[in-house]
Amino acid sequence: MSIAENSKLRAERAVAHCQELATFSEDHGSTRRTFLSTPMRGCHHKITQWLSAAGANAYVDAAGNLRGVYPAAHAQAPCLLIGSHLDTVPNAGAYDGVLGVVLALTLLECLEKKKLPFAIEVVGFSEEEGGRFGVPFIGSRALVGTVDEELLALEDAHRISVRTAIENFGLDPAEIPRAALTNDAVAFLEFHIEQGPVLEATNNPLGVVEAIAGQTRMEFVFLGSANHAGTTPMHLRKDALAAAAEWITAVERTANSDPGLVATVCRMTASPGAANVIAGEVRANLDVRHKSDDVRSHAVSAFVESAKEIAARRGLSLRQSTLFDQNAVAMDTSLVYQVEEAIRRTGCHPHRMVSGAGHDAMILAQRVPAAMIFLRTPSGISHDPRETVEIDDVAKAIECGQHLLDQLASSNHLQKRKCRA
Ligand code: GLV
Ligand code: MN
Ligand code: MN
Repeated sequence: MSIAENSKLRAERAVAHCQELATFSEDHGSTRRTFLSTPMRGCHHKITQWLSAAGANAYVDAAGNLRGVYPAAHAQAPCLLIGSHLDTVPNAGAYDGVLGVVLALTLLECLEKKKLPFAIEVVGFSEEEGGRFGVPFIGSRALVGTVDEELLALEDAHRISVRTAIENFGLDPAEIPRAALTNDAVAFLEFHIEQGPVLEATNNPLGVVEAIAGQTRMEFVFLGSANHAGTTPMHLRKDALAAAAEWITAVERTANSDPGLVATVCRMTASPGAANVIAGEVRANLDVRHKSDDVRSHAVSAFVESAKEIAARRGLSLRQSTLFDQNAVAMDTSLVYQVEEAIRRTGCHPHRMVSGAGHDAMILAQRVPAAMIFLRTPSGISHDPRETVEIDDVAKAIECGQHLLDQLASSNHLQKRKCRA
């Protein structure tokens, strides 16, 4: 069988795996798999079976990350991490995150038990989206050692804290420090769908990520006064929902005026939430991204000022808090070069790009050189059940991964590296 036929078969199997994993869901008829939810356990079991068959020993660390270690040819060898996340947004597609984990597994399968001068650890991160606690990257933060008491105390919509969620899953939060990378970890690779239109528009199956845009996530609480919707005259109201609506359109206007800036009020809850009561309180989540940290932080200040002005003018009070603030992160130059070379060897052009979406690689980059390979996303649709991939593009990603492992094994690239303390 030719390399191309073989990688096409492997690509079909990888896509079937992603579709099977999409059935582990908290919701009927659509995919939602949040941090340490019950379906995450089923997802772990399934991937553990596949990893074991490929020759890796899998376990779940205390932050709920699934980790499968494929040993090196020799003891004391460095370790290359390859992975992505297993949690999803609500009403998700089958490939965001999951494809990166399945492709890491596929690369182990391609080795057919042959050992390399480095170990490979497949990581399925427990939480990247921020769907359950409003704060993303809980899984990858455990690997870089930045899970703190503040993070463990965050609560979900049912007032369950991160700490309790970990305990309820049968894990011990006191063990989280042991999930951190050890000195043998020398690099991180992440395959991920692009989730945007660029590779399709430029007719490139694969892309190489140079940098990942920074992001800020905040919660705003507009506090007005709940009252009867029929009897309260318009000029006597302190309507928190009307204030939030005015602010949301101001956010959209500002973002529209700056190419490259994206700002979104993604979620809003109005209380008391009755059909005939003026909303007394609105909680709204804001997400702001830009490749320039200066532009992003100026925009965030402008959004805070505009919320304050609108609240004050309408006689409301306002509280705001920053849930997550992450600067843009550059990928490792020499790994990017290796990825480019591997993409060229598949016959594709290595299109360089900045990722607008956040990825675990931006957290791992704090400790180890990190690089990302993007796959073309048909119609640029993601975070939606219509999200899809082309089998031929997945086959190219598998070939790219195989070339990359070959290059890294033969160039001594990883053997020379040391994990940053
Ligand atoms: C991850 O999907 C993100 O929000 O960028
Ligand atoms: Mn996502
Ligand atoms: Mn993702």
